[in-house]
Amino acid sequence: MRVSIEVNGKTVEQEVPDRTLLVHYLRDTAGLTGTNIGCDTTSCGACTVLLDGESVKSCTVLAAQADGHEVTTVEGLASGDGLHPVQRAFREQHGLQCGFCTPGMMMATVSLLKENPKPTRDEARAALEGNLCRCTGYHNIVSAVIDASGQEVAR
Ligand code: FES
Ligand code: FES
Repeated sequence: MRVSIEVNGKTVEQEVPDRTLLVHYLRDTAGLTGTNIGCDTTSCGACTVLLDGESVKSCTVLAAQADGHEVTTVEGLASGDGLHPVQRAFREQHGLQCGFCTPGMMMATVSLLKENPKPTRDEARAALEGNLCRCTGYHNIVSAVIDASGQEVAR
């Protein structure tokens, strides 16, 4: 079917097989490879993007389901040359090691902070439980969430 999705503010339209997953549409059709595929089975969260502002695992959504909707990927977070506050916080708090989970973690964080602008560490952990970090760097990831929310990071 012909699918048209507004990705990071730009319309991406193409004929794709009906069963095409959103994550493949983003990577292969839109050419945005910042969204990673870790498991393909809704387990790891590496593929998290925003669909109409809500975080979704894009390996669980068909491109057809996003037809006519807006998707934001990690490439769409920053505007201009500056980093998005969540990107800045992940950098400053060393919230990444190999970086594989990071795009998904950041997109899930954007979604979390929209719903809960001042989360506690426990709330941040609970909100990110669908996102796995194979490097197990959770402590600094949670610190990055707290920093991005404008709260003091306890040392
Ligand atoms: S690749 Fe989508 S949840 Fe793991
Ligand atoms: S930083 Fe390596 S998977 Fe999270």
